Amino acid sequence: MTKHIDNKIFKASWTYDEAPEGTDHIQIKKQYDLYIDGRFVNPVKGIYFDTINPSNNEKIASVAESSFEDVDKAVKAARKAFKSWSGLTGKERGKYIFRIARLIQECAREFAVIESLDGGKPIRESRDIDIPLAANHFFYYAGWADKLMYAFPTRDPKPIGVVGQIIPWNFPLLMAAWKLAPALATGNTIVLKPAETTPLTALKLAEIIQDSGLPKGVVNIVTGAGETGAEIVNHPDIDKIAFTGSTGVGKYIQKAIAGTRKKLSLELGGKGANIIFEDAAIDQAVEGIINAIFFNQGHVCCAGSRLFIQESVAELVIEKLKDRMNTLIIGDPLDKNTDIGAINSIKQLKTIENYIKIGVNEGGEIYQPECNLPKKGNWCAPTLFINVSQSHRIVQEEIFGPVLAIQTFRTIEEVIDKANNTPYGLSAGVWTQKGSKIFHLTQKLNAGVIWANTFNKFDAASPFGGYKESGFGREGGLHGLKPYLKF
Ligand code: NAI
Ligand code: MG
Repeated sequence: MTKHIDNKIFKASWTYDEAPEGTDHIQIKKQYDLYIDGRFVNPVKGIYFDTINPSNNEKIASVAESSFEDVDKAVKAARKAFKSWSGLTGKERGKYIFRIARLIQECAREFAVIESLDGGKPIRESRDIDIPLAANHFFYYAGWADKLMYAFPTRDPKPIGVVGQIIPWNFPLLMAAWKLAPALATGNTIVLKPAETTPLTALKLAEIIQDSGLPKGVVNIVTGAGETGAEIVNHPDIDKIAFTGSTGVGKYIQKAIAGTRKKLSLELGGKGANIIFEDAAIDQAVEGIINAIFFNQGHVCCAGSRLFIQESVAELVIEKLKDRMNTLIIGDPLDKNTDIGAINSIKQLKTIENYIKIGVNEGGEIYQPECNLPKKGNWCAPTLFINVSQSHRIVQEEIFGPVLAIQTFRTIEEVIDKANNTPYGLSAGVWTQKGSKIFHLTQKLNAGVIWANTFNKFDAASPFGGYKESGFGREGGLHGLKPYLKF
């Protein structure tokens, strides 16, 4: 016991009754085909793969695996649709995008449950964050569709053409919205590929897009794994690739399209620094640390996975943090009380477990609260490491799981140096009562997004994107129109 024991705020361990979200209102088909040229069609080679529920590793549905022939059909449909879609007035394009936004809202409960079933995230997050933000993104860009000349005065922006979009599994519907909405508003046509572990909400979105009456061929959704993604990247009639995912695949794509006419935007990994100064509101900062690293099981490119605490308050913050971690509820993603759901795939679980081993082997001191992890499914207890330094792999590399690496600092210069000492540059957080410190740090930190006294806040109107190996191009806001326009 330390002298700070009085600061413990969560002395009791509460038990909660189960509060499962109903599943009666959702419809999941046994088998999903490809959405090409306004219709659902079988894959040419007739091959399907399983999408799994990561909370029990049971199969949910069969999903079509696209080969080159399918991607080619999708690209041809998009090419054919481009002329008339880009020729519509912005106001007409906006009407369809508004319609998609409203249909997402109408089906929000269904989307939320399917998202949690297929990907493992807590229903509270899919219900309150992913799905509302996805609808909001369509609303936001629908509003820009007829105002592009005001966004870029005197520059007469034009759509790029046929866009290939490849998205990851951590925010499946939201990433589809981030990709589709600005591309549609600017008059492009699209071939989109969701991630292989989480294709179901994108396919549900395809149904909505069909219902919306969007002209056929404007949005095509093809499913499959990395090979299908590579077919999109390498297709000769695609004008632009927009990718969100690992830095490794981002580098592959950049090489693959080098020397072609294709444009590129990349949103890749991160190792965000979350910085707590001694004058911060400590309890709020502790809540912020929890949100920064344990939101969505830590499967977040902008997660605050490196914590820097000013030395004078380090002991107190770490103690409070451990105390708060003891209260986190890990388990059934469909339970409304759940804080941390299932790890998205067995592959990702192995990656995270391997990093935890590396952390221990390199001399880090690990802390995990006691928790009853369910027997079936992919689970990882919330984890923190102290006694680590800049050279530790768990401090430098993206883990993409609920694992926090904690360091301390004394001076502002020291923390700026440490925070910037990473190949990434996506996000950061600053906790202090002093506005001047916040402004000083926002100038000095190399990160696309810097939150002050909060973390992991997203808004359709706010640009998001990285520096260095976190990628280039911005999504959201007026800036998010640019990667889909030529001038
Ligand atoms: P990934 O980068 O392989 O997957 C992202 C998307 O890219 C998926 O749709 C996948 O099918 C596609 N893809 C894979 N190989 C491709 C290729 N050669 N050409 C075109 N598309 C391709 O990510 P993965 O393997 O699932 O996760 C590995 C690590 O990547 C994670 O541990 C995490 O560190 C990082 N990651 C980062 C994300 C982010 O948002 N920053 C999202 C997903 C993963
Ligand atoms: Mg799945």
